[in-house]
Amino acid sequence: MSEHFDVHGGARLVGEVEVVGAKNSVLKLMAAALLAEGTTTITNCPQILDVPLMADVLRSVGCEVVLDGDTAHITTPSELSHRADSPAMGKLRASVCVLGPLVGRLKKAVVALPGGDAIGSRPLDMHQNGLRKLGATSSIEHGCVVAEAVGLHGAQIWLDFPSVGATENILMAAVLAEGTTVIDNAAREPEIVDICTMLTEMGAKIEGAGTSTLTVEGVDTLHPTEHRVIGDRIVGATWAFAAAMTRGDLTVTGVNPHHLELVLEKLRLAGADITTFDGKGFRVVQPERPLSVDFVTLPYPGFATDLQPFAVALSSVSDGTSMITENVYEARFRFIEEMVRLGADARTDGHHAVVRGVDKLSSAPVWASDIRAGAGLVLAGLCADGVTEVWDVFHIDRGYPHFVENLNRLGARIDRVATEPDRC
Ligand code: EPZ
Repeated sequence: MSEHFDVHGGARLVGEVEVVGAKNSVLKLMAAALLAEGTTTITNCPQILDVPLMADVLRSVGCEVVLDGDTAHITTPSELSHRADSPAMGKLRASVCVLGPLVGRLKKAVVALPGGDAIGSRPLDMHQNGLRKLGATSSIEHGCVVAEAVGLHGAQIWLDFPSVGATENILMAAVLAEGTTVIDNAAREPEIVDICTMLTEMGAKIEGAGTSTLTVEGVDTLHPTEHRVIGDRIVGATWAFAAAMTRGDLTVTGVNPHHLELVLEKLRLAGADITTFDGKGFRVVQPERPLSVDFVTLPYPGFATDLQPFAVALSSVSDGTSMITENVYEARFRFIEEMVRLGADARTDGHHAVVRGVDKLSSAPVWASDIRAGAGLVLAGLCADGVTEVWDVFHIDRGYPHFVENLNRLGARIDRVATEPDRC
């Protein structure tokens, strides 16, 4: 049975909302638990669909995983399987992050190609090239990445692009390689800092976390640890945009505002009053209709591609014209087709979109194509006349814990309905 949300337009969101651990961190930290025999405990886990899926991936290679509320206990045996090809692998992108730890520990891995959001081409060439530099062979065979090494040795690795996933996989193999690895043009996202922190707690030697150069001194073994996941900056930013779009007043806790400096600056330019609480959260008050602002997506500390749908949604109800440039995923502008159904005045040309703000959007049935597009459509529905049906909401459930419950508590009216759609 399909589920959809009926989003009643005209809400103003007011109140306080707490953000829990970051999806794009916790899944990689769970993979990192493979690197050490024994029980690793991860706290502040978000209760989203991808966490039990990642638990299934780890079980398929021999771990015991107990999910208890916001805590994951992962027991990694001394003998792990090198084959990660269970059906869960194809359901999320982060499953590919078992590749680095398996190659690091076992010197061989057969890892099914991952699934994840349909937001554009998502090759693994940088992951494979990095492992090759460390001394492994790597090929794609029968839908799996196959990697094997006699021994791993340190290397100088330059990434063509600061890929988050490639940085993580290479890092997790390099921590157990012999000698020194330098990863240049490494990703600098807060989630990379989080995994470096956890690996260091496990006994790894890593310098440069949060910079473009990571230096890893390989060690013989790692030990389990207990680690708290950082707050989800993308979810935190979603609430910030929600406040701006609904001319609301939201206090967001559980997320470090330093991870959102550019986002909050953009919203300031759109007319929001913003207060930050050091390391803890922020408040966004939007007194008037938002003003148009331009956005350009780039790797961190640039404006995150994951927030591009919210930039489009905000621009569609702002006063003026915005230019939005997408530099990371070519298919992410698919979202704009759905926004046009809601009456947005938006068009794309290559990796640019021009959005002229309208006074009000108008409700229509719309389809979520990925996690962030889904959440963006819900926020747009709050700014539309009438009731907007948002379909394929399983995408939203993959990334946003208690999204509808939180929105309703803050002043929205959204019903989760289980029926078949009338596509028009
Ligand atoms: C992570 O994906 C996130 N996913 C994505 O979040 C996010 O959009 C992305 O980073 C960029 O910030 C997870 O962490 C699970 P990349 P990842 O490797 O690691 C190209 C969300 O909504 N590339 O940094 O897969 C690639 O095509 C999601 O939560 C190669 O060309 O992203 C893209 O253009 C969706 N070859 C760019 O690099 C490679 O080997 C960035 O990808 C690897 C990547």
